Amino acid sequence: MLNLLLRSVSLLIAASLILITGCRGDKMQSALHPSGPAAEAVARLWWILRLVLGGYSIAVFVLTAVAIFSRPSKRTRVKQWGRNFILVGGVLLPAIILVPLLLYSVTATGALRMRESGLTIRVVGHRWWWEVEYPEQGIVTANEIVIPAGEPVRLEMTASDVIHSFWVPQLHGKTDMLPGLITVSWLEAENPGIYRGQCAEYCGLQHAHMAFQVIALPPDQFVDWLNTRSRSDATADPPTSQTEQQVGERAFFQHGCAVCHAIDGTLAVGDAGPDLTLIGERQTLAAATLPLTRDNLTAWLIDPQAFKPGVKMPPTHAPLEDIQAIVEYLMQLKGGGVNVESTP
Ligand code: CUA
Repeated sequence: MLNLLLRSVSLLIAASLILITGCRGDKMQSALHPSGPAAEAVARLWWILRLVLGGYSIAVFVLTAVAIFSRPSKRTRVKQWGRNFILVGGVLLPAIILVPLLLYSVTATGALRMRESGLTIRVVGHRWWWEVEYPEQGIVTANEIVIPAGEPVRLEMTASDVIHSFWVPQLHGKTDMLPGLITVSWLEAENPGIYRGQCAEYCGLQHAHMAFQVIALPPDQFVDWLNTRSRSDATADPPTSQTEQQVGERAFFQHGCAVCHAIDGTLAVGDAGPDLTLIGERQTLAAATLPLTRDNLTAWLIDPQAFKPGVKMPPTHAPLEDIQAIVEYLMQLKGGGVNVESTP
């Protein structure tokens, strides 16, 4: 019996170590690889709680085993020793260990408090994608949040349908997004790079495919990006000749894509689906479900339900050559502002 208990405890410890090691393998979305001040505070707290409470649990398991398997003794001296042991081990020791731990965790959450920021980004959670708006700059995008590295950015968040939760494990803790309410948080990435985020509140069929990327650019590149995005209003003329892209743009309108999607500088102003301005620069498609490639975009347009069953996007009933023309048109929507290749 004692053997079994010891074996179970060792198994538990081994399994948790394997899990931790496994988590450490993939940095893309790991709270154990913090890249910003808030996430660093969370990770530090996690490790301290894990180590102290892990040790504490092991001690409790061992003592429980001793209590179960040792023979009761009638000697008064042992009884007195037992009473002292309970007072020290059950009252004094927990007080010495747990009270400082409680105080530390309360202090540590101070690092998550709002920070002053010159940039506000609004994020709206939809089933199952992210609307991203830079209200002061008049920029709208989707499923990618471009921020300057090394500076805190204020986030104002809400949801259009059900409760979602905004989580970029490497940069900050979770913040709920509630329909009809605005919740406020902030993000700061220490270094330029790409940080994956994920909806952390079950929100329906495609909850797991509701991801996004935070792209932290060096501050000067971020200013370039803002300028590029502001300039993308300039190309408003409807197509007049038959270049490949213009054929694609016409097919985009002809097959109803503009009813749900917007593209700056065109007559497409739909807001039921993600904004597609400069979509050619994005790295992923369908809220980080697929890498953005011509093949994936083609397959997605033909049958979105095959990738995200339940998603609002209907299949595009159009001849393949029209779909390919739409794909070419979308893939060339680039401003040249984003260039982050390294992953932290
Ligand atoms: Cu949105 Cu889960």
